[in-house]
Amino acid sequence: MLSRSILARPRLELSFKALNHETRRLASTKSLKDTIAEVIPSKQAHLKRLKEQHADTLIGDVKVANVLGGMRGLRAMLWDSSVLDPEEGIRFHGLSIPDCQRQLPAAPDGKEIIAESMLWLLLTGQVPTPDQTRGLSRELAERGDLPQHVEKLIDSLPATLHPMTQLGMGVAALNHDSSFQRAYEKGIKKSEYWTHTLDDCINLVARLPALAARIYRNVYKPGTPLPKIDKNLDLVGNYAKLLGHGDNHDLTEYLRLYIAIHGDHEGGNASAHTAHLVGSTLSDPYLSYAAALFALAGPLHGLANQEVLRWQLLMQKEVGDNITHDTIKDYLWKTLKSGQVVPGYGHGVLRSPDPRFIALQDFCESRPELLESPIIQLVKKTYEVAPAVLKEHGKTKNPYPNVDAASGCVLYHYGLTEFKYYTVIFGVSRALGCVTQLVWARALGLPIERPKSYSLDAIEQLAKSGSS
Ligand SMILES: CC(C)(COP(=O)(O)OP(=O)(O)OC[C@H]1O[C@@H](n2cnc3c(N)ncnc32)[C@H](O)[C@@H]1OP(=O)(O)O)[C@@H](O)C(=O)NCCC(=O)NCCS
Repeated sequence: MLSRSILARPRLELSFKALNHETRRLASTKSLKDTIAEVIPSKQAHLKRLKEQHADTLIGDVKVANVLGGMRGLRAMLWDSSVLDPEEGIRFHGLSIPDCQRQLPAAPDGKEIIAESMLWLLLTGQVPTPDQTRGLSRELAERGDLPQHVEKLIDSLPATLHPMTQLGMGVAALNHDSSFQRAYEKGIKKSEYWTHTLDDCINLVARLPALAARIYRNVYKPGTPLPKIDKNLDLVGNYAKLLGHGDNHDLTEYLRLYIAIHGDHEGGNASAHTAHLVGSTLSDPYLSYAAALFALAGPLHGLANQEVLRWQLLMQKEVGDNITHDTIKDYLWKTLKSGQVVPGYGHGVLRSPDPRFIALQDFCESRPELLESPIIQLVKKTYEVAPAVLKEHGKTKNPYPNVDAASGCVLYHYGLTEFKYYTVIFGVSRALGCVTQLVWARALGLPIERPKSYSLDAIEQLAKSGSS
């Protein structure tokens, strides 16, 4: 399939290489698949060099606190597409979110980053040209229809089943047509794993909008027709259309930005790590990403955007029209004193306001009608007082907002009010980073993951022998 597609077709274009905060103009005639193929040897050589020269070099300590603390802070994983700095936030192959906003091609009718240009950057380390981006959009649209058995499966599920459970089930069922699985059964060489993985990954990304929109339709708008995928639209343009919001240009642009910047957040977060772990067993991309989606469905991870909105609406109900810094402060303390977390605040790695939150805030700042929205004003006012309250509370290492503090409220304002659905949108997005890792793990021949575990007694013994 891939060989007949634009992914494998040479194109006469220029491309840019993003490297260590700089971009270099390169003459290129490469398709996505050829571009990845071109980058693979140097990455393989880099990995080999590291193994040969530094296999015994220490890059961190393993403390008992790391082992007992959810492996927090352990440098234990290779993830090439993005690196998260605690203060500065995420960079994708060296590019910050504002860099990406300046450099990555947008949709023909828009200004925001789109999923295709982000996916190209993540997979290749290079900034695609507008033509390459459009080519990938068309490729995704052409592959975007769901197989019938998946449609039937989703239609058979009760509308009361959480949309994330439905999404995970639908993605797992896509493995019926896995190119990797078929090729593996035939006995392909290890060096060919990545091409079949890429084929599955592109199919997976392509089909997510139709799958996610079908779930939305079944759960919230039963009986309404689902439009067909428009071959001339980008991935998220189609997703907005399938959700029934295609004529809302601002919401479409918001979804484009949201999905692009949520796409990858280095490898240690629960969904990304799960995709990598499951993929490391040579499970195909559909099964690997289905597993990741079930990690994303936890309230401490992706479900937080649903929780933020639920929490902010409860606050709005309780506080009524009397929204002041003091009333918000009281509500924050009430939440904390009842033993709950303040959703949308804190982070496992970040120690500053999340640049993704700032990008979404900037989106609001540029649109006067959003600034007047009561729910967005509430989010903004909460941000003005929450860090000080959380500092005073003294538990969280990061009292600042993460991306989820803002993401759901904008959707709510634009009329996508079904907040139990919000994590599904995150699920459409996070695929970008996870599939990138799956392709590269195969291209680099990364092994099955298998860290060592110890019992409480064994850890104590190790600690005592280490400290004596
Ligand atoms: C994201 C999160 C899970 C990170 O967890 P973490 O790495 O363990 O965070 P910390 O090391 O700062 O946690 C230290 C303590 O502060 C608490 N804490 C962290 N964030 C908090 C918050 N937003 N509100 C209240 N307490 C919080 C933790 O529950 C923990 O308490 P404990 O010692 O009683 O277990 C956590 O900040 C959280 O639960 N945030 C709210 C949910 C959320 O927004 N998730 C989306 C993340 S993108």
